[in-house]
Amino acid sequence: MAKTREHFGGRLAVILAMAGSAIGLGNIWRFPYMVGEHGGGAFVMVYIVSTLLISLPVFLTEVMIGRRSHTNSRDAFARLSRHHPFWKGVGYLPIFIPLLIASYYSVIGGWSVEYFWQSCRQTFVTMSPDGTGALFNDYVTSPWRPVWTHLFFLLVSAGVVAGGVKSGIEKFSKITLPVLFVLIVVIIVYSVTLPGSAAGVRYLIHPDWSELTPRTFAYAMGQSFYSLSLGMGAIITYGSYVKKQENILATSTGTAISDLLFAIMAGFAIMPAVFAAGIEPGAGPGLIFQSIPYVFARMAAQLPFLSALMSILFFLTIIVAAMTSCISLIEVGVSFLMERAGLSRSKACVAIFLFCGGLGVLCSLSFGPLNDLKIAGMTLFDLFDWVCSNILLLLMSLLCVLFAGFVLPRRVLHDEFTNGGTLPFNDRIFPLVYFLIKWVAPVAVVIIFLTNFML
Ligand code: PHE
Repeated sequence: MAKTREHFGGRLAVILAMAGSAIGLGNIWRFPYMVGEHGGGAFVMVYIVSTLLISLPVFLTEVMIGRRSHTNSRDAFARLSRHHPFWKGVGYLPIFIPLLIASYYSVIGGWSVEYFWQSCRQTFVTMSPDGTGALFNDYVTSPWRPVWTHLFFLLVSAGVVAGGVKSGIEKFSKITLPVLFVLIVVIIVYSVTLPGSAAGVRYLIHPDWSELTPRTFAYAMGQSFYSLSLGMGAIITYGSYVKKQENILATSTGTAISDLLFAIMAGFAIMPAVFAAGIEPGAGPGLIFQSIPYVFARMAAQLPFLSALMSILFFLTIIVAAMTSCISLIEVGVSFLMERAGLSRSKACVAIFLFCGGLGVLCSLSFGPLNDLKIAGMTLFDLFDWVCSNILLLLMSLLCVLFAGFVLPRRVLHDEFTNGGTLPFNDRIFPLVYFLIKWVAPVAVVIIFLTNFML
């Protein structure tokens, strides 16, 4: 067991670290195409409401479990349930899920490293736009390059985690998060001023009410869970580094709003450019790695310098966003190994690097040499992503809110939420938050789960 646990500094540090975890590939590639596919502005509205009414209460629950237990996400459940065998077992899930996610998440992180490198070499500026698709295909199917970039990305992320909570994670997010917001604003300005970009803006804000089906609600909620890093132990772990005197309502709301804002900004950065280039908004990682270089290659004919600069900034943005998220995934396993197995921080980082690195190599190869290896009709990469985002994330979120609503005494949550009754505003809204946690969130999660499977 750890003797003295580390802490984040002040409120801003907590928000930046948590927002660093939340803002990631989910905002940059997943959100924009979800908006387009599910009713544009109508989806955005459902997304905002479900973030505030459902995801935010689940987020608060994870922070409260973390801060109350003051330990890693496995022991949090054991400690708070007074070592109930069922909850002790459940505690392993939020250790196992982030390791799986870190393995494939860092593969995409590696792709952004490759594309950043190609941008620095001015590859997109000098090539014909039609060659960008082939470039992507050659790269991801190669048995070597994506493996190296994945390992490089994971190594740097694990290196930041090895620096510790305050001087590694906190410092890194304090510098990179503000940079991220500046970068995305620059890209938005570039994107919306391209000729033909107005259709992309319209696509994002035009609400198509006929698209508002139960499926839209389920997708909007699922997306907002993923985007806020819920159900993976990351927020429980970061919550355990939040000081007792911190107002968790303020930090959690700050995080949720930054995440929302960034998702919407990413939509305005990407979609207008995609439309300006005359590309159909597709789905998945392909959207940013195939379409955006195409945009840069086309723009290079008129504005080569600007195009080169923007491509470098764009892929740097993706690296930074993905890395702060990957760091939070690694920290979950590291805090567990430090407190459970008594490993030093650096040894724990090496262990996680080896484990996730190995699994990630398999995921990376599933685009190339292992492409024929299919389980339930899916490649390893798709299987990992599907199992984590559609099953494990929801299952763990459900267990968290059930644990908070039905296992923890109400007074424990009240105590955490109001800092022992010292925060009058929090005290006033506690009954509403408790109702959302205990009744609304579990029902919503079950509905998303069933909708994903049945529709
Ligand atoms: N929230 C991150 C994103 O939007 C993904 C993530 C999930 C990161 C879980 C950490 C933990 O990309």
